[in-house]
Amino acid sequence: MKAAAQTATGHDLPDIRVVPPGPRSREISARLDAVECPAFDARRASRAAESASEQAPIVYERAIGANVIDVDGNRYVDLVGGFGAAALGHSPPWLSDAIARQSEQLPMALGDVYASEVKLALCDRLALIYPEPGARVMLGLSGADAITAALKTAVIATGRSGVIAFRGAYHGLSYAPLAACGLNEKFRSPFAEQLGDHVVFESYPRSDDELVKTLEGVKSALNSGKIGAILVEPILGRGGCVAPPAQFLPALRAACDDAGALLIADEIWTGLGRSGAMLASVEAGVVPDIICLGKALGAGLPVSACIGSARTMAAWGAHGGTAIHTATHFGAPIGCAVALAALERLSEPELHAAVRAKGDAWRAALAKATLGGIATAIDGRGLMVGITVKGGAAAALSLTRELLRKGYIVLTGGVRGDTLTLSPPLTIDERLLEAFTHELSFSASSQDG
Ligand SMILES: Cc1ncc(COP(=O)(O)O)c(C=O)c1O
Repeated sequence: MKAAAQTATGHDLPDIRVVPPGPRSREISARLDAVECPAFDARRASRAAESASEQAPIVYERAIGANVIDVDGNRYVDLVGGFGAAALGHSPPWLSDAIARQSEQLPMALGDVYASEVKLALCDRLALIYPEPGARVMLGLSGADAITAALKTAVIATGRSGVIAFRGAYHGLSYAPLAACGLNEKFRSPFAEQLGDHVVFESYPRSDDELVKTLEGVKSALNSGKIGAILVEPILGRGGCVAPPAQFLPALRAACDDAGALLIADEIWTGLGRSGAMLASVEAGVVPDIICLGKALGAGLPVSACIGSARTMAAWGAHGGTAIHTATHFGAPIGCAVALAALERLSEPELHAAVRAKGDAWRAALAKATLGGIATAIDGRGLMVGITVKGGAAAALSLTRELLRKGYIVLTGGVRGDTLTLSPPLTIDERLLEAFTHELSFSASSQDG
């Protein structure tokens, strides 16, 4: 008899019926490994060797709210929310409505030549997110697109190609953001010659002492006169969910003002409620020249935006339209319709307050249950949470597998790879966070010593 199909309301605890990855997941993954770029399988193999734990993947079949169901009928709690993109949960009902309505009416317009009304509506809405009037918007598909648009804008607006970025930061892997990737030197090194040497890296400060050193480095780099922009994550995401000292962003703002450089806030992870505020940079008291958004904006569809002040973006117009930045699908109507519907929900102050409350309670509970045991630090803000695991990257990787077998989807990050970097749906039920904390405190790795 066929087993009953797995169910999920979006708020359910895990239900593991077959040890993951089950046979269907293994079969599909093996076929995928034979046809997609071998880099991902090679990465899994090296992680398996490093951690002495199997790293074979599960395959998703369906997802709703904070639950994922795999092709073997296991139900999980998703604590990474599609890399943060499923901020409003998986498959919210309004998402399919927005896609259906727009795809019946107009799935494709003609980008920057002949636009659609829904593109105007989205640009209007995004411009209002910027703290000052007159902001201008460049739409994209990925976070990397938004960062590319921002870095090009800095060159156009300042005439300087130098960039200050931070060790531990991640901005995407296409060429413009890759050059500024401080997370992992190995992401950049094979391409170093094509990437050029226009990026200066400084440390991302965790403490007031580190802040002093960082600002010295920033000021000395700015003194070269070659820097057009400082690119910064207001809270480090993949780099370990690190909230910097309160003075960090205001000090960068002041340094940019003195040097005539632009401040670019990469809010692709932190923005739209994730940190417990609409924008983490504005919450920190600064107005960046450019704000990049992505992930949550598309609610699962690829949509991103680079939003710049009127003054900054005017440079593109002054250029006479010879330099433009566009692509076939930038501003495509379905993505615009979905982003508009997502923004309506992501802009709710009640959502931000709930994220702050949930995040604070979760971090406190995690600290109580795991510090001195499996964890050496609990970091983050809002619902970006970093759990640094005792025993380094290998221990963190094997912990991800143990948690997967218990029905929790987590990922490792951090500069040393020893941190669980979590970004669950903002709408997640607190019961699921509490259940995870309980499992983590009883994980086998925490009993080791
Ligand atoms: C802070 C930050 N910026 C940029 C990106 C790149 O976004 P994408 O993967 O959509 O290109 C990411 C992705 O994780 C990110 O965390």
